Amino acid sequence: MKTAIVTGVTGQDGSYLAELLLSKGYRVIGLKRRTSLINTSRIDHIFSHENLSLEYYDLEDSGCIYKLIHYYEPDEIYNLAAQSHVRVSFDMPEHTVNGVAIGPLKILEAIRNMNLCDKIKFYQASSSEMYGDNPEYPFNETSRLMPASPYACAKVFAHNIVRNYRESYGIHASSGILFNHESPRRGETFVTRKITLAAARIKLGLQDQLCLGNLDAKRDWGHAKDYVVAMWKMLQKISPSDYVISTGETHSVKEFLEEVFDCAGLDPYKYLKIDARLFRPHEVPYLLGDSTKARKELSWTPEHNFKTLAKDMYEADYKQMLNSEGRYGHIEKALRGAI
Ligand code: NAP
Ligand code: GDD
Repeated sequence: MKTAIVTGVTGQDGSYLAELLLSKGYRVIGLKRRTSLINTSRIDHIFSHENLSLEYYDLEDSGCIYKLIHYYEPDEIYNLAAQSHVRVSFDMPEHTVNGVAIGPLKILEAIRNMNLCDKIKFYQASSSEMYGDNPEYPFNETSRLMPASPYACAKVFAHNIVRNYRESYGIHASSGILFNHESPRRGETFVTRKITLAAARIKLGLQDQLCLGNLDAKRDWGHAKDYVVAMWKMLQKISPSDYVISTGETHSVKEFLEEVFDCAGLDPYKYLKIDARLFRPHEVPYLLGDSTKARKELSWTPEHNFKTLAKDMYEADYKQMLNSEGRYGHIEKALRGAI
């Protein structure tokens, strides 16, 4: 039985990846940081799986990673943990950079210092955000990185250090340059989920306004369920490499808004308020990926498209809101305009 360590297991991708690995017969060691409230809702359904164990971990704690590698002797490590919100990275640059850039370096150092370079395969969650405001799209593995936020700058460091350790020490380390991917498990402060939650709540009379920032930004949006398959496939290759994972279609925030409100049978412009505070100090205006390499070398193809993604997310939120009587209301009120 293979053993995989997954950092960020309580996150969107961590939860789907843990599910996938368990379904493939892996023993999964999910690493979560300590939180004052239990935040395992995305993995509650697999919580009692006999092959899943949870351990405390923090990106900033080197000792933890040495201890866990020594104890569990993993075959694969997937580094998904991060302060992953781009806007928040402008407010908390040091915290973001410490975790996003130095966190993966700590893991790579542990692998190297424990003489496990030829034993452990490593996956790094790189990001399309690294292309920043490069105008020369579509982006592939060799496109110029022009990061436009503290988050993206940190991801560029991590991306480069992974390649450096691969080339210097022969570690089987691959980076997936994943374009935006969403799902019903997406964090509520990312724009797609903010929109699907709002549409569901407006439909049920639980909300009367949706505050958004830049509607013109374009993203290559895929479904997280499809994207974790690509992560796993990268680590099954004989040789490590970097791969762009994307749908090859781009849509504006405005198009996503209209698609979702159409699913709800609502006119979005009756409820929309543009809030200047939601614009970023430096925007990434246009992301479009070219995943030819992954489609060819990994035989990877996404099953979802823009329309099925929007529908899946809206329907899941509508169902959830029907049952929860809008328990997110107070959070939305407290954070309005800030995220
Ligand atoms: P997410 O839902 O925000 O999950 C992030 C995970 O990291 C959560 O489990 C979080 O724990 C954990 N975490 C945050 N700070 C930590 C720290 N200091 N120590 C340990 N764990 C920490 O993000 P995601 O969408 O699943 O993304 C997974 C990874 O892919 C991230 O590295 C992200 O930057 C990258 N990525 C995402 C996308 C995308 O579109 N989703 C695209 C490209 C790259 P809590 O649950 O306690 O917050
Ligand atoms: N979050 C948010 N909230 N974004 C808004 C809003 C709003 O109210 N209004 C407009 N936007 C715009 C943002 O300015 C951005 O252009 C776009 O919607 C997408 O924002 P997010 O959903 O926050 O995602 P992101 O593209 O910044 O970052 C995500 O994708 C990256 C990959 O490209 C995150 O998942 C990152 O972790 C990931 O690396």
